[in-house]
Amino acid sequence: MPAGFKTEVKAYQMYIDGEWLESRSGKTFPVYDPSTEEVIAQVPDANAEDVDRAVAAARAAFDRGAWSGTTAQERGRILFRLATKIRENAAMLAELECRNSGKPIVEAEFDMGDVATCFEYYGGLATKVLGYINPVPDNAMSMSLKEPVGVAGQIIPWNYPLLMAAWKLAPALAAGCTCVLKPAEQTPLTILEVAKWFEEIGLPKGVVNVVTGFGETAGAPMVKHPEVNKIAFTGSATVGKVIVKQAADTVKRVTLELGGKSPNIFFADADFEAAIDGALFGVFINQGEVCSAGSRVLVEKSIYPKFVEAMAEKAKRVTLGPPLDRDTKMGPLVSKEQYERVCSYLDIGKKEAKLATGGGRAEKFARGFYVEPTIFYDVDNQARIAREEIFGPVASVIPFENESDAVQIANDSPYGLAAAVWTRDIFKAFRAVKALRAGIVWVNHMQPTYVEAPWGGYKQSGFGRELGPWGIEEYLETKQVHINLNEQPIGWY
Ligand code: NAI
Ligand code: MG
Repeated sequence: MPAGFKTEVKAYQMYIDGEWLESRSGKTFPVYDPSTEEVIAQVPDANAEDVDRAVAAARAAFDRGAWSGTTAQERGRILFRLATKIRENAAMLAELECRNSGKPIVEAEFDMGDVATCFEYYGGLATKVLGYINPVPDNAMSMSLKEPVGVAGQIIPWNYPLLMAAWKLAPALAAGCTCVLKPAEQTPLTILEVAKWFEEIGLPKGVVNVVTGFGETAGAPMVKHPEVNKIAFTGSATVGKVIVKQAADTVKRVTLELGGKSPNIFFADADFEAAIDGALFGVFINQGEVCSAGSRVLVEKSIYPKFVEAMAEKAKRVTLGPPLDRDTKMGPLVSKEQYERVCSYLDIGKKEAKLATGGGRAEKFARGFYVEPTIFYDVDNQARIAREEIFGPVASVIPFENESDAVQIANDSPYGLAAAVWTRDIFKAFRAVKALRAGIVWVNHMQPTYVEAPWGGYKQSGFGRELGPWGIEEYLETKQVHINLNEQPIGWY
């Protein structure tokens, strides 16, 4: 970018009840490009009043059957149309996602494919929601029917902005719910672009509302709102715990995806090259801003020194660069706040363990929230850098003695989102699969994620499952129906 060049600051409105609106207060907030630290957009700063308006629209759309009263086929077709729009505009969306979040363009392009696939998957699943006949021992027909849960409040993070919106909206819409979605304040732009197509693809007004704002002022009012039936949240464990408490008063359904401190376990018999590659990929993909990041790297003692050295050598060669550059493998962190949080963990790590590589800002960039890929080793599993989610490019390498030691260390965590095991011994692999307390276990890989397979955590990584048939189930209620086939009185009195 030439010196002195100023990016155009685009003004966005938010989408409520089929209309493009400012916030009632008239306030806006800035949205940044984390690679230049420049403001690229201004977005409405919604508060409780705006949330009220959006919830009322979603409530009215649900209650008048604007969406749940259509056929499942029609809902499916609309989701397919949305997927087509996203595929047709994938390059534009990927570039915007990349500029706003700092993720490498190649990864943003992958994300857009996954977004479209998610809408297609649930477009297809809409017509496959089935009920049951319950075999009750009476002259009666007993059924269980599936119905949409109602108005869904959806609060999402900034690491996969549009993909997280798709994970929330697609199953909810397939189920027949109406939605109020609050993107993260750092990254609201791609979903606002996508919302521009909602009317054209035939989504009735009020069915999806996008409210832009901050957690305490726009997220919390949604969680407390009596007309919202369910909250789906992805983000920090701290906020997840607040949400559970705040949702209690109105007994909302809640699903939480809260990240973790996932172990990536390397046995000595694993293919060494593949292992080093897998250790880096597990923790540095998307700058480490991944809920399932393999941020605890557990390595068998016999290969430990060689492993740490090889991992550090290869980490030094990871290409940090501007997110729009096609060779870039790691961009800047999403925001100043996240950059400072990660840097504070680098300081903690230097006191708690030994540094193999990285440990600071990547100084070759004059601007931007760039952090070097960082590897700490000889980390104690009780250290803060082994227990707390850092959400940046920081690996904590921990040695282990044997299989039972590895599993014990892996499971000794408040979290349980994901885990990975690398070995060529299938007996060892399966024993680990069974012993690991995590919602996702990969063998000889880490991070592949498919819309067909369940996603979610054990322990403090949250509850509920997204994706696959499990994902739509979280947006459905089960109704028991009993039809008496006797035409006589009950005859009790
Ligand atoms: P956060 O949990 O504060 O934000 C996530 C979403 O929740 C955003 O949309 C935010 O506006 C909203 N939110 C915040 N406070 C809220 C409240 N009181 N009520 C309702 N909604 C609220 O995450 P933040 O501050 O951006 O990042 C902090 C840490 O959280 C990261 O360092 C990382 O460890 C973790 N995180 C985990 C994610 C995951 O995928 N599991 C994603 C993002 C962050
Ligand atoms: Mg926060």
